[in-house]
Amino acid sequence: MELVIMRQHRFWALLTAATAVALTYLFATAPAPLEGAPAARPTLSTAEALTLLAHENDVTRTLFTKAIVGQGKPQGLKFSEHWADPMVIAGPLPALFLRGVAAHLAESDVPLGLFLGSDFPIEASNQFKGRQAEEFAAMREAPAPRIFQDEASGDLIGMFPDYASAPACVNCHNDHKGSAKHDWALNDLMGATTWSYPKDSVTTDEFLGMLRAYREGVAAVWTAYLAKVDQIPAQDRPTVGPHWPADGFFLPNLATLRDSLDQLAAPALIHGVTRLAS
Ligand code: HEC
Repeated sequence: MELVIMRQHRFWALLTAATAVALTYLFATAPAPLEGAPAARPTLSTAEALTLLAHENDVTRTLFTKAIVGQGKPQGLKFSEHWADPMVIAGPLPALFLRGVAAHLAESDVPLGLFLGSDFPIEASNQFKGRQAEEFAAMREAPAPRIFQDEASGDLIGMFPDYASAPACVNCHNDHKGSAKHDWALNDLMGATTWSYPKDSVTTDEFLGMLRAYREGVAAVWTAYLAKVDQIPAQDRPTVGPHWPADGFFLPNLATLRDSLDQLAAPALIHGVTRLAS
């Protein structure tokens, strides 16, 4: 058993190292631009950049929903839609985790927008409107990402399907009194994560800026959650460190969460990056 874990660990360590090498090649040691060429050429379409970010977000959202909310609740961890209220000591619901990241992006100097909407929302302001409602109706017919330019703002918009990937999604939405629909089933299309960016192509630096801003948002929300946990009386408080709720009354610290996210996100990043490099 231990050997298997060690092998897995080695595999992930290698994979992470491989990602680092691929990224270093692409972003740091790629040949210098020829004289006279613009210093920073666009290297990705915004559609490609948003697709890589949407994957990072999917991995983050699913890990949080399954390994923290899903496995934490039976251990006694609390999650609330009022978690940001100073009087409430609880963790964020998955949608509010995402909203916290979106708020961080809105405050950052990266002009990247993030929104989670639906046609049957719990929260009325999450209802898709206008062009996004039309695109989401098309996604219901054919569940694939929709990428288009918003005529009004000129922004490039990427809408990515958001599925009921865990029983917790279905149960909570069906039971919620504010929900516009009470018969969600596992794997249903529940909504879409919607990204916006004001240009249709980005340089590698800009892409890394987007990825970094997203990850900083995740770190900010996690840090805010752990600060809440700190307020729980010691005898009722989960141990924060290298372990997960699946192992007992534990919560991962930021470094542990970051490691798992790196490992989960690495294959798609490698795939994306090597495709771009070829
Ligand atoms: C414990 C309850 C709970 C769980 C678990 C949960 N949600 Fe939600 N979800 C909510 C609430 C409450 C909102 C509205 C939050 C807000 O914007 O104020 C929401 C918002 C959403 C929205 C935006 C539209 C809307 O309904 O307002 C989508 C899409 C969504 N959730 C999908 C999911 C998916 C997919 C999962 C599982 C990966 C999930 N939710 C897990 C409670 C939950």
